[in-house]
Amino acid sequence: MKILVLGATGQVGFEVCRSIACLGKVYAPGRKELDLSDLPAVEAYLQKTSPNIVINAAAYTQVDKAESEPDLARKLNADLPEILANHSATQGSLLVHYSSDYVYDGNHQSFRKESMEGSPVNRYGETKLQGDLAILHSGCEHLIFRTSWVYSARGKNFMRTMLDLGKQRTELNVVDDQIGSPTPARLIANVTALAAHSGLESGIYHLAPRGHTSWHGFAREIFNVASRESEPLMLTADDINPIPTHQYPTPAKRPLNSRLDTSKLEQALNIQLPEWKTELASTLNEFLEK
Ligand SMILES: NC(=O)c1ccc[n+]([C@@H]2O[C@H](COP(=O)([O-])OP(=O)(O)OC[C@H]3O[C@@H](n4cnc5c(N)ncnc54)[C@H](OP(=O)(O)O)[C@@H]3O)[C@@H](O)[C@H]2O)c1
Repeated sequence: MKILVLGATGQVGFEVCRSIACLGKVYAPGRKELDLSDLPAVEAYLQKTSPNIVINAAAYTQVDKAESEPDLARKLNADLPEILANHSATQGSLLVHYSSDYVYDGNHQSFRKESMEGSPVNRYGETKLQGDLAILHSGCEHLIFRTSWVYSARGKNFMRTMLDLGKQRTELNVVDDQIGSPTPARLIANVTALAAHSGLESGIYHLAPRGHTSWHGFAREIFNVASRESEPLMLTADDINPIPTHQYPTPAKRPLNSRLDTSKLEQALNIQLPEWKTELASTLNEFLEK
């Protein structure tokens, strides 16, 4: 079994390479070997390696920058998945792809189901939705995991930014009216391996831990766990001030409600996803032990 992982240096891609290693021979070209914005080169690479599974963990993930670089964002988030999907449809291979809570507008009170239509509020979300639709349209065998608020012990993410700031500042303001579920890259990777191994039926699946919080609640819990682990910090969870989104203006608008209903995935794989706090504790411990 040949497995091609794109974006192996990213948060999810790195963990995916670890979790799927036992399923076959893994090809994981880095940016120097394969620039994914060079679409003819991607097609040539697919022809040459002819993988049985393509796992696309690559993406243009800079949400704010996507507002001023929409063409590059579209190339990575929409055109690339379309090429991968068309290749998979022709070759009969499986395409695993990751998508985002940002394909939804977040203007609702409940948990989003996969059957609900996308209506993004920013360029990044638009390009991610275009990528999902291109995959569905291709007719290839596919697994699209829509996830939210990804973090890991590696890479640039909210958990690591908070820990860095907690060593420099005595007080922080963090948004408390955007809610969602922080999702560690390792959970995404483990579910990916299980899904690929168990032959999960093609479709879109929401993938995030159980429970939800705000960015403010996430930050508080990061500092609670870090203090329990005796990490030297200049502040405590009580020094994190809640602020509304309008007091933290960003180039890209964010959905307020990013909660994803994950029952379809749990039922299909017969699993119970873990709670976000448990996942944070183990990811943070992994980071602190490094
Ligand atoms: N991060 C989040 O909060 C979040 C939330 C929901 C969904 N998602 C989705 O989850 C997936 C994984 O996200 P992530 O956070 O793991 O992303 P990430 O850490 O930003 O990694 C992105 C990967 O894409 C690669 N890449 C980007 N442009 C490339 C190019 N032109 N040529 C070659 N490689 C290129 C990067 O390579 P380099 O290392 O060389 O830059 C990196 O390996 C994405 O589909 C994302 O949309 C993420």
